[in-house]
Amino acid sequence: MTGTFITFEGGEGSGKSTQLSFLYNEIKSNNLPCVKTREPGGSEGAESIRGLLLNGSADKWDPIAETLLFYAARLDHVERLIKPALTDGTIVLCDRFADSTRVYQGIGKGLSEDYILSLHQLTLGHFKPDLTLILDIDPEVGIKRTLSRSGAETRFESMDMDFHHAVRAGFLSIARNEPERCVVIDASQSIEDVKKSVLNAFKQRIGQHIKLNLDCF
Ligand code: TYD
Repeated sequence: MTGTFITFEGGEGSGKSTQLSFLYNEIKSNNLPCVKTREPGGSEGAESIRGLLLNGSADKWDPIAETLLFYAARLDHVERLIKPALTDGTIVLCDRFADSTRVYQGIGKGLSEDYILSLHQLTLGHFKPDLTLILDIDPEVGIKRTLSRSGAETRFESMDMDFHHAVRAGFLSIARNEPERCVVIDASQSIEDVKKSVLNAFKQRIGQHIKLNLDCF
């Protein structure tokens, strides 16, 4: 595969989607092939599963059933959208991916790390992002941001604050354990400063990976 797979991770209200769109526009305006996508979702089947997962009460699903649904959606998304795009040499930007399952279903819902990693191995083998940007923010601030948004997909936002603190700690722990893949970005900065940090991480990590001169950015 010749493309580059970049994921954005972080807690609720960390501004991932805004920053992903910003990076997408930067890459496109430099005439590089790029697609943006999201999880759960990104393919027709996975978008149907998204509706099952994100609506309803916080304890709607048994934790293992929930995790299997996330992985069913992920497998379809990877096989039908992400891998073909990477094969074409495209940069794929994805809003959340497997780290969200490790953190939300693992740490938040008490599923073992081993179980989730085995499921990953079973469905996707060693497939993983080339770069993961973790947008880090105090959950008290993040949740306030999301409450001012409207929308029905609030199943995870409605979990209690301890859950959101565990989510934050979970992402930071992944970043500590996999520094070659992950960059932590302070999402409490102004939007403009977060954009600068995102662009710097992209240039530093991906410039080398795709052997492109990104001075134009
Ligand atoms: P979404 O509306 O996309 O919000 P956000 O801006 O927070 O990404 O909701 C996705 C929700 O799904 C989010 O609360 C995290 C949760 N989630 C998991 O619990 N496990 C996963 O594997 C993924 C991809 C998401």
